[in-house]
Amino acid sequence: MTGLFDSFQRQINYLRISVTDRCNLCCIYCSVGSVSLLPRSEVLSYEEIQHIVQAAASMGISKVRLTGGEPLLRPNVSRLVRMLSQIEDIDDISLTSNGTLLSKYAVELKEAGLKRVNVSLDTLKKDRFKRITGRDKLGEVLSGIEAAHEAGLQPVKINMVVLRGMNDDEVVDFAGMSTSQGWHVRFIEFMPFGTPQVEALGTVSAQEIQERIQSLGKLEPYTGKTGNGPAKYYRLPGARGTIGFITPVTEHFCHSCNRLRLTSDGQLRPCLLDDDEVNLKEPLRNGASVDEIKQLIQKAVAIKRERHQLTGGLAPGIVRRPMCQIGG
Ligand code: 5AD
Repeated sequence: MTGLFDSFQRQINYLRISVTDRCNLCCIYCSVGSVSLLPRSEVLSYEEIQHIVQAAASMGISKVRLTGGEPLLRPNVSRLVRMLSQIEDIDDISLTSNGTLLSKYAVELKEAGLKRVNVSLDTLKKDRFKRITGRDKLGEVLSGIEAAHEAGLQPVKINMVVLRGMNDDEVVDFAGMSTSQGWHVRFIEFMPFGTPQVEALGTVSAQEIQERIQSLGKLEPYTGKTGNGPAKYYRLPGARGTIGFITPVTEHFCHSCNRLRLTSDGQLRPCLLDDDEVNLKEPLRNGASVDEIKQLIQKAVAIKRERHQLTGGLAPGIVRRPMCQIGG
């Protein structure tokens, strides 16, 4: 068998890279507002990221996604995209963004080799956007989505984290955008990540969301090309866009997990929801060879657990690191 396999015969071919822990939004369910930022010297340089991806690509990683924080806050991310797109065996480079800066960067990102983008958007209402994110930037996000489409970053997927009592009354509106605008909408179950006031509201399950959406028509399972992730896809009758559900809380998808995560400070993490990490930054800065880096990547794959503990009722705050350092 060629490629990278973990102890549970899962093929690992996907690396998510957090390029910064900084963000220009301050979402109530994300801990970015309450943690101190990493000193810049702790954050991997583009050359360091390139080294790691080169090593990983030679082992079987073929897909990378840049995340944050907000990745577009890092100066000249297009340069990193170009560097990664030149690595042989990397055939898919994508980005997860809050969309606020996409109007500015979509064209140059596309030219640098970015294939597609996921935009996080939790409400279509201006006032509510400000309440959820702390900033008045809904207009920027909507024009960012438009700009990404026009630049040919296809598909653009819209990620909505459903929050009880805050935006769950908008799930039908979002689903409707798959028909009216051709949006690919994905509903994400809220995960307890150390924000007690939001956690107290409880998670809205994908099943509950699906039931509410049925008012628009019968959801047909969609089996066309989708992504590298765990979403289950459907389509409303006649819609150009798809509707996906991501269920970390009510139905874990660890059996099909294909990913590793690189934190902005250079720790390789086998699982979002498990604090095990392998330090790549220190060896890299001490002059480790490509073979040594490959061994460390192998180690991270070897310690990848069979599944996370979230579905079993994770105690809030079990994950030590904030999401913004790991990358969503
Ligand atoms: N639960 C679920 N999704 C989350 N995200 C950030 N924090 C959480 C959470 N606690 C989402 C973002 C983005 C993606 C990267 O992760 O909204 O869409």
